[in-house]
Amino acid sequence: MIRSDARFELPRYIAHRGLSARAPENTLAAVQAAHDAGCTWVELDVQLLGDGTPVIWHDPGVKRCSDSRGKLSQLTAERANKLDVGGWFGAQYRGERMATLDAMLALIQRLGMGLNLELKVARGRHAAELVHASLPTVLARLSPSQLIVSSFNRHALTAAREVEPDPSRLRLGVLDDKAPKHWWRETERLDAYSLHLDWRKLKIKRAREIADEQIKLFCYTANDPVTFEKLWDWGVDGVISDDPTRFIDYEAAGERQVPAAQSA
Ligand code: G3P
Ligand code: MG
Repeated sequence: MIRSDARFELPRYIAHRGLSARAPENTLAAVQAAHDAGCTWVELDVQLLGDGTPVIWHDPGVKRCSDSRGKLSQLTAERANKLDVGGWFGAQYRGERMATLDAMLALIQRLGMGLNLELKVARGRHAAELVHASLPTVLARLSPSQLIVSSFNRHALTAAREVEPDPSRLRLGVLDDKAPKHWWRETERLDAYSLHLDWRKLKIKRAREIADEQIKLFCYTANDPVTFEKLWDWGVDGVISDDPTRFIDYEAAGERQVPAAQSA
């Protein structure tokens, strides 16, 4: 289990799927928008196309966030690149293309941002295949201080830890909707850095237990800093939000005295 380590930045505000409140989720435009709005970290989902290309995408299909339909697992990179993945969100984003992991990493590197990469394993897809196709390039291109890899899928997390056994080189985040009773079994087994839980299901008792163990606790997906306020007192370390600027502005306005950003 990782304890406090000054080498790591602890992200307090993470833009969920990029700045998804203001730009089409999981696109280059959403990450650029997050950066332009003052966010330093983004959360993005990675999956594989049918031809094995890692892309930044949330759903198993393309219907909700593109001008087409069908399964991601049946797309090639060439066909995926013909989709319009911005027009559904707003006319100004028309022509936006599905981001490959490769292109997204280039943008993250250029902007100097932190990345919480979620390994998204859709039903029927292979967790280890996703990990082996995506993680080595991520590790080669981002520093440990700008990366947290998370997943709901335990096989994906296990495979990720096998790719990089050293927890100081790869921070893993265990995603769940709520922490199971024996939540530490998974974090210890995986030498995990953090738990990522649904803030609406979090109970104070569990949050304090986690804080006592110094496992970092991130909560998704919260968009109201007022409602969220009590969770900081429970020991929550960071929030994954569709619009972190609401939290940043709330803090800057002095509505809440949160501790200064700290190292993990
Ligand atoms: O990583 C937190 C959050 O992204 C998990 O849920 O469905 O938005 O990927 P989802
Ligand atoms: Mg996600």
